[in-house]
Amino acid sequence: MSNEVWREFWSGGEGAEQAIGGAHRGRLTDFWREFFCENLKAAPDGALIADIASGAGAALAVAADAAGELAARRFRLAAFDISGDAVRSSIQRAPGSIGAVADGALLPLADRSLAIAVSQFGVEYAGRPAFAEIARCLAPAGVFSALSHYSGGAIDAECACNEALLDRIAAMGIFNAADAALKETYRRRRLGRGDLADPAAERKLKRVQQQAAAAVAAAPPSAAKQMFARLLGDLGGLAARRLAYADGDALGWLAGMEASTSAYRGRMRSMRAAALDARGLAVIGEIFRNAGFA
Ligand SMILES: C[S@@+](CC[C@H](N)C(=O)[O-])C[C@H]1O[C@@H](n2cnc3c(N)ncnc32)[C@H](O)[C@@H]1O
Repeated sequence: MSNEVWREFWSGGEGAEQAIGGAHRGRLTDFWREFFCENLKAAPDGALIADIASGAGAALAVAADAAGELAARRFRLAAFDISGDAVRSSIQRAPGSIGAVADGALLPLADRSLAIAVSQFGVEYAGRPAFAEIARCLAPAGVFSALSHYSGGAIDAECACNEALLDRIAAMGIFNAADAALKETYRRRRLGRGDLADPAAERKLKRVQQQAAAAVAAAPPSAAKQMFARLLGDLGGLAARRLAYADGDALGWLAGMEASTSAYRGRMRSMRAAALDARGLAVIGEIFRNAGFA
């Protein structure tokens, strides 16, 4: 389920990665810049550096910049992700890199072949076996660094906030109510009827719109709050001017909005499910210690 959610996310094209890291993107880039400046100097010539669950290559792009500054040295950069679109974006963003569609728990790499493995909000989606996989692929003097979702941390809290509002509004059935009201109007229009609105469907739609607007107003600030505020405004406009639209256009827009909010909900769930906690970190530490790393 999580894999599908992410493949669909990256198939959305450019700009998808803007959603990751949000306001913290500058700080994330600074973190990787410092990391690569320090660790590339110590890495051997020809060293293989991999971004696991790379997404659009946010960390790999920083590695490429840092490697470019060490002009006399040569490094091989690689991106791995379960989404082909994400891998393609990574390769575009990190000139000279290679990539492959791969589950983080099954990397197409030889034992001890990696000098540096990194992951930004990624490897944890592939579960604990992915950490053992990185330990298998890491050279004895290799370095692994990850920025991960942490249960109860800032991103987890943000996702929880988004998820709560998405769940609440999904439970109200707003898309069903809008779909029923619009379909009935368009059916009556096709029949040439004078009474174009079904009173019961209109009452239901109005009630759900009001409930959803109240839920959005009461919700703490979040990306989902902004998204629904916009969506409810657009939906209100569509319902009011429905006769100006062709059936397929209006119903298609509605179906698209439902699909994208449902995908958003899936991503929030997937992020929260992937978040590590203190026990998870202890287990991961154990995996690397057992593989001989400090
Ligand atoms: C929150 S995004 C982070 C992407 C990127 N590292 C970044 O920071 O922009 C999580 C990424 O993990 C990838 N992913 C999810 N499950 C995976 C798995 N089992 N193996 C490899 N990649 C996975 C998704 O496709 C997505 O690109």
